[in-house]
This record gives sequence, structure tokens and C-alpha cells, in this order.
Amino acid sequence: MRDRKLSIPSDFTWGVATSAYQIEGGRFEGGKGESIWDRFADEGRMPESGDVACDHYHRWPEDVALMRELGVDAYRMSLAWTRILPDGVGPVNQAGVDFYRALFEALLDAGVTPWVTLYHWDLPQALQDRGGWASRETAGAFSRYAEVASDVFGDLVTNWITHNEPWVAAVVGHIDGAFAPGIQDWGIGLRAAHHILLSHGLAVEAIRANQPDAKVGIALDCRVSQAASDAPEDVAAARHFDGFRNRWFFDPVFGKGYPADMIDAYHRRGRLEEPRLPFVVEGDLETIATPMDFLGLNYYAALSIGAGNEESGDTGVPESSSPPPGYTDMGWPVTPQGLTEYVRHLDETYGPASIVITENGAAYSDAPDDEGRVGDARRIDYLDAHVAAVAAARDGGVPVDGYFAWSLLDNLEWTSGYGLRFGLVWVDHATGERIPKDSYFWYRDVIEASRG
Ligand code: FCB
Repeated sequence: MRDRKLSIPSDFTWGVATSAYQIEGGRFEGGKGESIWDRFADEGRMPESGDVACDHYHRWPEDVALMRELGVDAYRMSLAWTRILPDGVGPVNQAGVDFYRALFEALLDAGVTPWVTLYHWDLPQALQDRGGWASRETAGAFSRYAEVASDVFGDLVTNWITHNEPWVAAVVGHIDGAFAPGIQDWGIGLRAAHHILLSHGLAVEAIRANQPDAKVGIALDCRVSQAASDAPEDVAAARHFDGFRNRWFFDPVFGKGYPADMIDAYHRRGRLEEPRLPFVVEGDLETIATPMDFLGLNYYAALSIGAGNEESGDTGVPESSSPPPGYTDMGWPVTPQGLTEYVRHLDETYGPASIVITENGAAYSDAPDDEGRVGDARRIDYLDAHVAAVAAARDGGVPVDGYFAWSLLDNLEWTSGYGLRFGLVWVDHATGERIPKDSYFWYRDVIEASRG
């Protein structure tokens, strides 16, 4: 392990991350309403469902104990909107509130600060039935949900993340159609992206109004775009990919509006009837750019982009059970250098007050050996290189103040099922048994060492 004592200060936030649909289960318990992922699974559009998942709904005391032993400062988790407001807008479901309150209290007792994501893609189905994110009303519903959540949990939670990965929710959910709600329509996708971003700004305002001392941010995902060659068509493709994948979200959140080159490009490609965005109402861009306390960045990989790939989805090639060296089981390349470069770029371009790596991790399928030990050396290498990349960025003066490993537990990797394992803790999905992997103990040591 490299020596990073000098560049990672003792008040750096070390954490682990999960999301509700991927771990909770308890689908029919505690008055939970139906979400678009419940519906997606019921329609057979994914191989496995989150009905049980890691059974965290029942096993959460064990998971809190795992975090206490790990020594993390913070736990990034998401609320299932449908546990709090089963139909998205109507009355508050007290059983859902009680479930999360008990969890937050146990976390705080264990010395672990909750960082709560409001939306990790699981829209109430009742709102989808009324148009979902394509409808501007959903932004208003989200704002009320943020108000309710900060009201009922504000005494226990001060760190809030409005949305997780708006690109995935908008594009994979509404253009590519691979994720819930499974729509394939560019017009709807761009509209959904806008309403998600608008709802982010509205939620920041709603949380602040309830809780003046709250720390609020968003978790944006990225794929760093590297031109496959110096050829002009590859350079142009890489620029387009960066616009499609990254700038379309980062620019408006930081007050630069939607990128003009991409509006033109989408118009030329027939995705917009005119070179303008008809769904943007006066004042929206100001709302979207409401100042935040931190930028959350989910970083997994940098990609080499050439002509023809400029709008590639990158859900990986999970079919390959033995990835080539340099790739994870997701089919994503291992590119730690891209993390250092990208946070430097974000710092120079947007100047966020603080950057927190809200997700970073790798899928590898290592299972327990005969002694019950999970030797996941490749995950340790991956995490070590990325933590070093954060330290290098800090050395260069970039304000990266926290790092959350994805994920605490092997969980439901969306449409890829339970076979893709990102956890520091191995989970037997038949019995629910948890076994900390070697990477768990490695991470515990890194955290302890950084505290001196
Ligand atoms: C991110 C998601 C997270 C998980 C990881 C592997 O895109 O936010 O839920 O699936 O990828």
C-alpha cells in the first residue's frame, strides 16, 4: 500500500455506499408502495428481482455492526420513496419513517454518519402512471418528498444527496430503455433529464428551508472520455460523448446551462425539432444551479471513444465471466488515472466547494474458499489505485473530501442480477449470510492508518 498519510487528512470522510432497491428487499412489508423497479421485475424485464435482495430490511442491525467494525465515518444509502410516500404524493407512511429512523439511530450509535440519497432510481409506480419524469409534475412531487424527508429525519440526518446518477435514470431508463421504466424515446429522455435536474434544485431549496445546517449535494456519474486517436473524427466523437454523458448534467448544475454544441448536435440528429429545448421554462436554469455544499462524483472508468461510439451506453459486458486483465467483471476498464484527471478538470471547470467520491468500486466474482475466506485481491488493487488517485488529486490542490466504496454488500446489480459482486462483504443470496472479504479488512486498515 502506498503511503498516503500526507495527502489524506484525518478529517477525510471514509464511507461505504448502497441503495434501497439493491439491498432492502421487504417489498411487501411496512406498507411500501410499488416502484418502477418492482414493476420492471414483475414484467420479467430483468433476470432477478429485488423482492428479497440482501434482506437488509430485516438484517440491518447486522449490517450496521459490519460498518462499525469496518470503522467507516459515513454510510451512503438511499431511501425508498415508496416506503415514505407509497403513492409518491399522498399521506406519509409511518411504518416506513419508523424503519429508517431506527436505522439512523443505530448508525449514529455506531459512530457512522448517514448520508442519505433521496432518489436512487426507484420512482413510485403511481407517479410513472401519471407520466413519470417526462411530466413536470414529478419534479414538484420530488420537492415535496424532499420536504417530508428532511422534516421527519432532520434531527438525525444532515447530509443529503438529491439524485443518484441522473444520466442513468434519464438515458438508460428513457432513451436506451434497458432500465426501468424501459422507455426508448429521445424526446422523452431529454425531457426526463430536465425534470430530474429541476427537481434536484427544488429539493436543495426544500431541504435548506427545513434544515438550515444541512449539507446538500447531488451524485453525478461520469465516464471520462478519451479520444481513441488524434484523428479529427475520433476527437470529435470523444467531445460529443463527453457532452452526451457528462456535460449535459454537470454544466446546468453549475450554472452554465445546457451545452450549446450538444443542443445543435441533437437537433442535427433529429432528436430535437428545433435547436432549442421546449421544456425549459424561465427560471428553471437558475433553480437547477442552486448552490450546493458538495459535488458527489460516482467514478468507475475512463473510456476510449472513437467515431461511431459517441453515444454508446456503457453498461459493460457482464456476460464475460472471466474478464481480460485490466477489466472488471462489468466489462469496465480499470483506469484510476482518469479519476485524478477528472476531478482536476471538475475543479478547474466548475470550482465546486467540495468534491466527494460518492461511489467507486469493482465487480469481481471471488467466492469463499474452503476455509470461508474471500480472497478478492483484484478488488483491493482496484480500490488501492483509486484511493491513491484521490490522494494524488488532493496533492494537486483539488478539494476531494470524502470517498465512498461501492458497495458494502454484494447486492442486486440491477438488470445484471446478483452474479455481479461489488461488495466488500460477500453475501449468500440463498441464506442471507454475510462474510467480510479480504478487501473489507484492507479498507479497515486504510481508514485506521489515515487517522494516524
Ligand atoms: C452505479 C449505480 C449503483 C451501482 C454501480 C455499480 O451506476 O449508482 O447503483 O449499480 O453503478
